[in-house]
Amino acid sequence: MCGIVGYVGNKNAQNFLVSGLKRLEYRGYDSAGVVTLDQEGNATLIRAKGKIANLESCMAKKKRDDVIGIGHTRWATHGEPSEANAHPHKAGSIYLVHNGIIENYKELKSQLKNHDFKSDTDTEVLAALIESFYQDGKHPLVNAVVQALKLVKGTYGIAVVSEKNPEEIVVARSGSPLVVGIGKDETLIASDASALIGHTKRAIYLKDGEVAKVSKDSIEVKTLNAEPVSAKVEEIETNLAAIQKGGYDHFLLKEIMEQPESLAETLRGRVDTKNNLVHLGGPGLSEAELRKIKHLIVVGCGTAHYAGTLASYYIEQFTPEITIETVVASEYRYRQAYIPKDSVALIVSQSGETADTLACLREIKKQGAKTIGIVNAIGSTIAREVDGGTYVHVGPEIAVASTKAFTSQVIAMVMFGITIAQAKGVKNTILRSYIEEIAKLPDEISKLLNSDIPNAVKTMTQKYAKYEHGIYLGRDVAYPTAMEGALKMKEISYLDANAYAFGELKHGPLALVDDRFFEVVLLPKGALYEKAISNVQEVLARGGHVIVITNEEHFDLPVDDIVKITTDLEIFAPIIMNVISQLFAYNMAVAKGNNVDQPRNLAKSVTVE
Ligand code: AGP
Ligand code: GLU
Repeated sequence: MCGIVGYVGNKNAQNFLVSGLKRLEYRGYDSAGVVTLDQEGNATLIRAKGKIANLESCMAKKKRDDVIGIGHTRWATHGEPSEANAHPHKAGSIYLVHNGIIENYKELKSQLKNHDFKSDTDTEVLAALIESFYQDGKHPLVNAVVQALKLVKGTYGIAVVSEKNPEEIVVARSGSPLVVGIGKDETLIASDASALIGHTKRAIYLKDGEVAKVSKDSIEVKTLNAEPVSAKVEEIETNLAAIQKGGYDHFLLKEIMEQPESLAETLRGRVDTKNNLVHLGGPGLSEAELRKIKHLIVVGCGTAHYAGTLASYYIEQFTPEITIETVVASEYRYRQAYIPKDSVALIVSQSGETADTLACLREIKKQGAKTIGIVNAIGSTIAREVDGGTYVHVGPEIAVASTKAFTSQVIAMVMFGITIAQAKGVKNTILRSYIEEIAKLPDEISKLLNSDIPNAVKTMTQKYAKYEHGIYLGRDVAYPTAMEGALKMKEISYLDANAYAFGELKHGPLALVDDRFFEVVLLPKGALYEKAISNVQEVLARGGHVIVITNEEHFDLPVDDIVKITTDLEIFAPIIMNVISQLFAYNMAVAKGNNVDQPRNLAKSVTVE
């Protein structure tokens, strides 16, 4: 689920492998390893628990000028993070790195009597299985890999090398991405194109069920059924600046701060304030198809799910005769849900690789509904498999915690809602305020980020670092915003933070309020403002420690802290409030000394169930 790299060419393989793995570090991992082969096939295997820096110190004693090798950062699924469980795994003369899960590893393992297992991983079972067909070089490696993969249930992106043939790498994928970069007299492998930037701009993105044999000057792709594939060579769109910190202490802060620009990219060419129109080319639905939509299913995990929930609150405000269902992908994929006729599914994913979301996409397609991707990673699996889609275009999001993608996902989905409303003949006067506010949003976020508020939030955070729990509260559009705020807080600060619909408070959670808790209240102006004010009073009456984030200048209850935002926006004020929640969580994580960009136990793209 984390990082794979590989190199075959004329240059130093160890150098590329380490720099490539560093590029993939943001995905979160617990151990790392590389193997390189010299011309005679002598292998140098180096693995270390923890950070790549540990791997580098082990490498200092084992510097090699080998020109072929593979490397991996592991996010443990089977077996604890340890050197023995780190990849590459060896069986006979082959070495394997693997992202994903071999689900039937137990059954396979029981049949592999000749291999002396040294790790607890499912991956080593696959290595032994490949070796059982390879038989120490008696058969071509690619054939052995294909035979083994045909027996495997689960997900994988893999790279394999053999001591018997130190000139080729065999790679394959099913459910876990793999990119083959084409250089001059060199071929580079990565699970994510960002590792290839600066080396080549040309790449082949393998599809599920494809396997490739690569050497420094050739790439042969075929299917597991041995049908040759004439793979498309594509241009890698990301640049180096997009994957560097650019002077910030953390990627997360950089990504929070770049939201004015990243959102502007989402809007570029799509919002026409002169004529009050939104133009989205990607979904590829005709006016007639848009008019027919009766039901939207919005599918995602984590932040993508909250973005979908917030967007659905907006869309139902202006789109008539439509029902919207927002679902958590890991649940929906196993439900026996009925999909009404004329449904369209929005598949929301920053990475475009999330296993549960992808599974839902496939299931929904099977049932005949149209699928529209709201995806960031260009060329990702979800982006390829949906019927149509709208890229959010926020550039690489490196920090594990999603920030700029959330903001753009919400707005991209609202724009899709506006497209439906336009087709359904909703009056321009109703849509105008939404379109105008969307167009202003990048500047409004910029105004906030350039005001005194970020510093004030930083100072305020020090006060709350001693608390053990946070409750996030909001009504209407502020509720999904509160959910996202709480997720951000828990994932990077490790503080136990949960969100509730403000109206639900007295149905249970109010019992929690005591000195160990603080309460973050998102309080936008609007129809439910007064009701929310009563809810704030209820918390205060029970001794709560309340932080209010509001755009209502007259708010004056005696709460512990008020973050007042000045914004021209009414409808999308919660998006601005969410930026404050992002800064609050960021500062909390820094105050606690946590690894802000790679929080413990998490990975950036969750390609396993
Ligand atoms: C967000 O901060 C989380 N790291 C996580 O919830 C994430 O949004 C989720 O895993 C979905 O990822 P995706 O958008 O790449 O599908
Ligand atoms: N399932 C494998 C393991 O636990 C691969 C994990 C990964 O995707 O990093 O070792």
